[in-house]
This record gives sequence, structure tokens and C-alpha cells, in this order.
Amino acid sequence: MKHLLSIADLSREEAISVLDTAMHMAKASDTPMKKLPTLRGRTIVNLFAEDSTRTRISFEAAAKRLSADVINFSAKGSSVSKGESLKDTAQTLQAMGADAVIIRHGASGAPARLADCQWMSGAVINAGDGTHEHPSQALLDAFTIRKHLGQGREDLQGIRIAIVGDVLHSRVARSNVLLLTKLGAHVTLVAPPTLLPVGVESWPVSVAYDFDAVLESVDVVMMLRVQLERMSELFFPNAREYSRYFGLNSARLKKLHPGAIVMHPGPMNRGLEITAESADSARSVIIEQVTNGVSVRMAILYLLLAGDTSIEAGA
Ligand code: NCD
Repeated sequence: MKHLLSIADLSREEAISVLDTAMHMAKASDTPMKKLPTLRGRTIVNLFAEDSTRTRISFEAAAKRLSADVINFSAKGSSVSKGESLKDTAQTLQAMGADAVIIRHGASGAPARLADCQWMSGAVINAGDGTHEHPSQALLDAFTIRKHLGQGREDLQGIRIAIVGDVLHSRVARSNVLLLTKLGAHVTLVAPPTLLPVGVESWPVSVAYDFDAVLESVDVVMMLRVQLERMSELFFPNAREYSRYFGLNSARLKKLHPGAIVMHPGPMNRGLEITAESADSARSVIIEQVTNGVSVRMAILYLLLAGDTSIEAGA
């Protein structure tokens, strides 16, 4: 595997190998030493052209735990995806000797563009591009689900997952649908029709409009942030209506079966898609998702840069 651009590039086996490697990384991170010497002398650039808290610091922590040198390059604005300026950026990264570039960008396809150009030879990791994909988030979500509900299995066979809310604008939802179904889970998208993408009928998922009707039959409720910054028109009447029909609250939590877990990729709009009580409830694994994110990103960096050929993706 040379790059991580999309979950679509990963086979089921490769995805499982990332999750298994992340488990070893989590064990290593649990020791007092924390740091592994694996990527000593390698340079990793964090190129974030869009806001991020969790993903950026998570990749930085992961790279540092593997002893790599990390350069944070926050190119706010849109210059990275525009022809010549992408070339300039790539050449700059190459000149800095970047072994890997972790890129977040507002334009879908920007990481693929960087991976395809001839000006840079390092690995490219997609840390979220527009509304397209966010593969490392899906991998950390799958890792978290497997840890809680996997019962020792290597995949997520038969686990029922509801992904709820602003699917239309969510790269997290797209990557998760691809990955969770690849691993054998049943995914139901729950959203108002206005927040479902065109062509959703061809996705390998069920679609429901009534949140209450699916609560009793799922093992995981994955809430999505309402991405107000990507909304140029009105997608729902008002915030109260949205919360009433698609928000997770205490009454809905009570309908879940005893082992079910609640997830959210963050950042949360508390009071809109999720109430504070739900976010902080005993069923919530939201903070744990952040912890697991570091182990999963260590695994991604390790597999891409330490040259493990067992997960050759041909990319
Ligand atoms: C997500 C993102 O940026 O795509 N956040 C994250 O990486 N944890 C989800 C979101 O912004 O809603």
C-alpha cells in the first residue's frame, strides 16, 4: 500500500490488518515507554487546509509515538487544489524530504491529485477531503466497534449500525458505509430525505426516515454532525424540528438494547444532533474513539512507511 486515499482501495483483509496492527499499537502505547523507534528519521508533514482538532493532533501524536519528525503545515484557504499551486506545494514537500503527507482539504479529490502528481514521491494519507472520504476515521470507528461488539471476531459480521443525520455532507458516512459493509456489518442510514445524497439507492445500505423505528434493532448508533458550514440552502425547517426527529436524546437512549453503543466522530453540536446527556452517557464511546484514533493512525503510518508488504494494495 503506497497511499491511503479511499476505503475503496482497501481489501477486506487489508482493512483487518490495519485493525489488528492498531491493536498491537494500542498495547505498545499502554506501556510507560509509549514511544516506538519504528519511524525514526522519517519526516511526516501534516498539511491541513481545513479546520481540524482531533484528526490533526491525532496524526501528530501517532507520528511522534513512532518517533517520526512531524512538520505542521496549515495551508488555510484553497490554494492546494489549484493546478500550479498544487505543484508548488508538492515541490515544497518534496524539498523538505517528506516521507508522508497527511492532507485535509475542502476539495474532494485533493489528496488523489497530490498522490498522482510527479512532483512528490512520498505517501499521501487522506485526512478528509470535502464531502468525499475520511478513511482513517472509518478505520478508527470500525476498530472501536470491533473492540466493543466483535466478540473476538476479526470482522464486524452481522453487527447492525445506524448512521444518523447529515449523510449528504459527511465524508465520515461515506468512508464508514464502504468499510463497515466490507467488514460484514448491516448499515442503516437514518436521515431526512433532504440530507441523503442522490443515488443512495445504489449504496449497500438500508435507508430509514423514522429514527425511533430503528433504535431497538441496532447495536451501534453513529451520530453525524450537522455540517452547517457546508449548507448554502435550507435542508430542514429549524434546529428544534431536526432534534425532535433526528437528534439523540435520553428518551431514545432508553430504547436501545443493553449492549448498544453511541458514537460520534466529533466535533459535536451538543443540543442539535445529540443532547449532552446522550454524549456523556455510559453508552457513549465518543472519547474512546479519540483514544483509538491514535492507535489506528499509528497502524496506518506504520503499514505505509515501515514497508509491510503483507498489505500491498497495489495503489
Ligand atoms: C469529521 C470531519 O472533519 O470530517 N470530524 C473528524 O474528523 N473527527 C466530522 C465532522 O466534521 O463532522
